[in-house]
Amino acid sequence: MSTFANHSIHCIMIIDGKQISAALKASLAEQVAAFPARYGRVPHLTVVRVGEDPASVVYVRNKAKACDAVGIRNTTLVLPEDTPEEELLSLIRRLNGDDTVDGILVQLPLPRPLSEARVIETIAREKDVDGFHPLNVAGLWQKTPHMEPCTPKGIMKLLRATGVDPKGKRAVVIGRSNIVGLPVAKMLLDANATVTLCHTRTVDLASVTRQAEILVVAAGAAKMVTGDMVSEGVVIIDVGMDRDPQTGRLCGDVDFESCASKAAAITPVPGGVGPMTIACLMENTVECFLHRVNGSITV
Ligand code: GUN
Repeated sequence: MSTFANHSIHCIMIIDGKQISAALKASLAEQVAAFPARYGRVPHLTVVRVGEDPASVVYVRNKAKACDAVGIRNTTLVLPEDTPEEELLSLIRRLNGDDTVDGILVQLPLPRPLSEARVIETIAREKDVDGFHPLNVAGLWQKTPHMEPCTPKGIMKLLRATGVDPKGKRAVVIGRSNIVGLPVAKMLLDANATVTLCHTRTVDLASVTRQAEILVVAAGAAKMVTGDMVSEGVVIIDVGMDRDPQTGRLCGDVDFESCASKAAAITPVPGGVGPMTIACLMENTVECFLHRVNGSITV
């Protein structure tokens, strides 16, 4: 009897976010290299960080590095933790009026008691590289031109690069945040998936996730989706950036080992969604620049 007779061969695809994002950045770099001759300058992204939240320090540094790799001019402004809201808002208004700035990103979360909503609505819509401005959110839900938020945009690109067409598929999203869960659910709907949006009050989550052909997890809880909660052949996108409480190591919202043995494809953490988010930020910055130099909002 063959050694392999009792084993079914499970072929798993690890979705390589690093490679897919590198390809996007390389293509953007090529585009940006032609801008000085054509437009007299390159795009300029200004990132604002308030306070010293350790995760935000790392994220902001990675955004600057990506800009450098793509050839996007970038400025990072760091304000103290106790910056008054009016001061932050007047800085944003100054950047709105600065013709040399194409994109403005204020890193979230903001320290209390700063109002994220007020900050986001103060950023000029045409410089909103995050796609968080109320007019951009409205554009997503009304299917009118808008800037797409980076993480959901990156997730849709990962699915496309993996050859997964959401059309007619059962897609389950865990998490209902403004940044990921809500917009990715809408984008999956627009791609003709049948979408279920789950959250902390969902009853019998496992019975819902077992129905999923595409599972997007943005719950913010380490390894909360385990192998018994998914069906064979599912495509799993893990948006989590957590610490394993046992090992202290970086991990996702999905228990990779138990889920990978059932999934057809799965994103790793790190190296999945994270790099795609940053590559999409680069793409959005180029889009904002092009709208500005071409004198129209056609997003
Ligand atoms: N914090 C976590 N994700 C994001 C993001 O996509 N944009 C901003 N501005 N802050 C974040």
